[in-house]
Amino acid sequence: MNPHGNSVLLAPSRRSFVGGTTVIAGAAALGLASPSVFGQTPRIRMDIVTFAQDATRLANFEAAVQEMKDRSATDENDPKGWLAVANTHRDFCSIPDDDSSQIHSCYWFIAWHRAYISVTERKIRAISGDDSFSYPYWNWSSDRHIPQAFARAGSSLSDAVRYTPPRRLQDDEVDYIPDDPALRALGVAALSARRFEATTPSRISRSFGGIARPNPAGAYGNNRLERTPHGPVHVYVGGVRDQGDVGDMTDFATAARDPIFFAHHGNLDRLWEVWRQNPAHRATEPTSDAFLNHRFMFTWIDGAPIEVPMSDVVDTTKLGYVYDSLDVFRTAPVGPMASAESVSSRPPAVGRQTLRVPLHPEGVPDETERKILEITEVEAPTQPMTVSVFVKPASAPADELGTSIGTFSAIRSGGQIAWPTQTLSFDITAAAKKYAGEQITVQLIPQRIRAQGAEPETYPQLKFGQMRIVTEGAGDHHR
Ligand code: C2O
Repeated sequence: MNPHGNSVLLAPSRRSFVGGTTVIAGAAALGLASPSVFGQTPRIRMDIVTFAQDATRLANFEAAVQEMKDRSATDENDPKGWLAVANTHRDFCSIPDDDSSQIHSCYWFIAWHRAYISVTERKIRAISGDDSFSYPYWNWSSDRHIPQAFARAGSSLSDAVRYTPPRRLQDDEVDYIPDDPALRALGVAALSARRFEATTPSRISRSFGGIARPNPAGAYGNNRLERTPHGPVHVYVGGVRDQGDVGDMTDFATAARDPIFFAHHGNLDRLWEVWRQNPAHRATEPTSDAFLNHRFMFTWIDGAPIEVPMSDVVDTTKLGYVYDSLDVFRTAPVGPMASAESVSSRPPAVGRQTLRVPLHPEGVPDETERKILEITEVEAPTQPMTVSVFVKPASAPADELGTSIGTFSAIRSGGQIAWPTQTLSFDITAAAKKYAGEQITVQLIPQRIRAQGAEPETYPQLKFGQMRIVTEGAGDHHR
């Protein structure tokens, strides 16, 4: 049971401002969807690299987070404390996948986290007294390591349990697929998703926003963005020490204790804005009452419950912010960003299958058609991991890695792996074109996620149903 299940819902936010009770004071202080916010110039969410150029701004941010952490150390239930902020994530994310309050693995994922970052940055704004404060984001497409501002020893922003492996984020972990020209141009391959809402369970992993909650099939799973780059960046930052000992970011119950959580989700939130710049994408966002009239519950620093209506969440200016840039990369990359690896630098494959790439049926191929590799019924791994998917001709030497077409992660949730039953989908268009009619081998190869000096990594084989290649046409937009 989610502890917030019994919270008293506030009156619709617009009316809240007419009222005057204590409960409403929290919402008023928050200013969510307040008329005064509409007329205001929205605040600008900055790249942490830009944000940190102003030493005073950074010091104010650090001091506010320190104050919140100190409060939690004295009283872990202090609503003004950092732990209270972090535990909100635990209460809505580290719960069973079929719990109606669970906001992962469904179309609340990107929306709830948007509301959550917004509430958190307003708390910091109130506590720091810096009225211009907006939570900075981490552009991991460009910065393949934990940014300096979140890594400085002694800073409240680096004070978290981290077993980050001694390496940079690889291209596939941040969803950069340089071998496919169309995906490379997007910078983050998840931006190729054509629809927000998944209409059938097998499409969840191909949709940008995921499936409705509740849905008749009771089927939940990671949407395309949630799978990658969301998952691998969590696992990279948190990492793993020894068996069962993981960093904050590797477990949803503790992830938001690490201040970098909000910078990671800030970048995902920014990518939602990048994706919805395309009107065809935006047109697929749900307009049902079930979606737009939904309300997310949070707690303000005075302990009062506050609610954020979904209709305010889809438009960042209603929440009072815009991003400093909607370019995926700070400066455009030209090729692979991470150095190419050899097979010997990676743990052995945890799964493989050889299959024939179908020939294109006939006629001129539709330019917008994509080939999708589906891996069905993937069973939950027993431990956190990030797995890269590589393809190569079946005749290629055993020690050849081949071409990376994507990645996925297993994250913990309260000590167990969070793993809704799912089909994993990977855009394999460029490789399918190259190997049309031929036999290829698909290999699942883990990334190194252990801290320096930790036990060597060994991974059990992954169990899955089958791998198959399906075609997705432009017409799938309207399905
Ligand atoms: Cu609710 Cu990245 O987690």
